[in-house]
Amino acid sequence: MAKAQRTVLITGATGEIGTALAHQYQQRHTRLVLIGRRPMEGLDPNLFTATTYCRVDLSWPDYVRIIDQFLFRNTIDSIDLLIHCAEIADKGTTEDHSPEHIHELVTVNLYAPIALTHALLPRLSRCHGKLVFIGSVVAVLPSPGHAVYAATKAALDHFAWSLRMELRQQIAVQSIHLGPTPIRPAVSADATRSIVQEQRLLAADKLALQIVHAIESRRPTITIGLKNRMLEFSGQHLNWLVDWIATRRTR
Ligand SMILES: NC(=O)c1ccc[n+]([C@@H]2O[C@H](COP(=O)([O-])OP(=O)(O)OC[C@H]3O[C@@H](n4cnc5c(N)ncnc54)[C@H](OP(=O)(O)O)[C@@H]3O)[C@@H](O)[C@H]2O)c1
Repeated sequence: MAKAQRTVLITGATGEIGTALAHQYQQRHTRLVLIGRRPMEGLDPNLFTATTYCRVDLSWPDYVRIIDQFLFRNTIDSIDLLIHCAEIADKGTTEDHSPEHIHELVTVNLYAPIALTHALLPRLSRCHGKLVFIGSVVAVLPSPGHAVYAATKAALDHFAWSLRMELRQQIAVQSIHLGPTPIRPAVSADATRSIVQEQRLLAADKLALQIVHAIESRRPTITIGLKNRMLEFSGQHLNWLVDWIATRRTR
């Protein structure tokens, strides 16, 4: 008997890592549900089509209903893998943020993944699926200049940890931590746009493959990259030292 096609839903699928992940799962003949905010024009037509792409803003009040309707229209009643990848990257100190920006940041980075997880639990449970949160090492490190962003990542980790226990009979819950990657490089003055673009795509592809391997493992939390694991270790076990280094300039 032919094996049923697996379904993977990726938020932030129009971003660098999300798109690279979508390519990986397309190569694995998985049915794709890709969530993003940009218009479909300009996106890769081999990946983003009327039946794979659900365009929705995760800061809108009705995004859960829009995604639910998309799934219903495409007769998708179970999801094998849900990957939360969407994010707003933080820029600037907390003091510099407007209240509206803080609200949007917390909504997209924290509230939306929790609410969407809640809405999609029946579809995930139906096939004993897997839920993955793409997080960051900043969750355990002091992050001056990214304080709100780091707080959303730390809170999401904690949500994943508790949810893993609540749902241990139904679905697997995993947190995957990334660190600074060449995807967000410091662009050197003499580098041409196309070289930088090519490097970014290569870096995103390599990282996406590492994420796919991490998802295939049964480990509940995985940090990708030795440097990131060392950073995380220092944040978790040498926090007094990290705190001292981070604050010494203000003394
Ligand atoms: N890249 C890194 O160096 C790095 C490091 C650590 C952790 N991470 C984690 O990796 C994940 C992916 O990062 P990335 O580099 O691929 O990010 P990215 O390129 O900035 O992509 C962000 C994605 O989130 C979507 N998004 C943002 N606001 C949205 C909204 N209001 N509604 C719906 N979608 C929205 C964007 O959609 P549109 O583009 O369509 O607007 C885009 O698809 C994130 O969770 C991040 O925390 C990345």
